Order: sequence, then structure tokens, then C-alpha cells
Amino acid sequence: HDERTFVMVKPDGVQRNLTGEVITRLEERGLKLVAAKFMQIDEDLAQQHYGEHEDKPFFDDLVEFITSGPVMAMVWEGADATRQVRRMMGATDPAEAAPGTIRGDYGLDLSQNVIHGSDHEDEGANEREIELFFDEDELVDYARAD
Ligand code: CMP
Repeated sequence: HDERTFVMVKPDGVQRNLTGEVITRLEERGLKLVAAKFMQIDEDLAQQHYGEHEDKPFFDDLVEFITSGPVMAMVWEGADATRQVRRMMGATDPAEAAPGTIRGDYGLDLSQNVIHGSDHEDEGANEREIELFFDEDELVDYARAD
């Protein structure tokens, strides 16, 4: 199958009713949804998910924010999916994100930036994050009409 990538609508996106908008954008771009879980992240999962940022000064804020309310965790599939999603998300800081990108259109600040996607420059980040949030049998294998 094509490349799979992990995507999450963060608590701010859920609270602001942007879950559907994010899904619609990815669907309309031709990416295929293969797994989704509406869930509350606990502190342990948050620390594992953001483990690479452990030494950053904003790590505690990151964990507090991502556990502050429900998220929509998803796996999307497509050619070059990780990089495609990154391009659609826009820059991490909404103030720098181009109009037309998800963060450029809806992001409020560095933490309230609506969406997380696996880093395509971090080898294996997509597989690592998918495994952290989903069991293999939760990834749905199906064909989609073109
Ligand atoms: P995300 O793609 O979820 O991965 C790490 C997150 O850290 C990033 O999105 C930002 O939301 C967040 N982040 C980056 N820099 C800062 C910062 N200086 N203060 C707070 N959060 C930050």
C-alpha cells in the first residue's frame, strides 16, 4: 500500500469544531482515511508522543495542552502522504503558515495550531506514531473508487 502517516486534530481544533474541516481537506486532496479514534490522551501517552521534545522548555506546556481535551487521532494513506499532509498543514507557527494551509487559515498560535502530522524529515516518525496510537488490526484495509 501507499505510505501511511499519522495525523491528529488537536484539542483546540476539536473545541473549535474544525475536525470535519480537517478531514474534508485531506479527503478532497485524495488521501485515504484508514483509521480514526476520537480519544482523550493521558499523560503517559502524551509524554511518549512528544518524547523527542522532552528537553525543550515548552515540553510541560505541550503535554498539558495535548491532554486538555479530546483529540481526533487518524491514519491517512496515499502517495508521499507524510509530506503531502505537512504541506497542507503549513508551518508550525500559524503566523508563518501560508494562507490556504490548515494552520495558515485556522491556527491561533504556536500551541493552538489545530493539527499535528508526522515529521517527514524524522525517519520513521510516521510508523512510530501510528504504532503508539493504533493496534495493527485497527488499520482498515479497503479499496476506494477513484
Ligand atoms: P506539533 O507538530 O504537534 O509538534 C510539536 C509541537 O510543539 C508543535 O506542533 C507546536 O504546537 C509546539 N510548539 C513548538 N514550539 C513551541 C513553543 N515555543 N511553545 C509552545 N509550543 C510549541
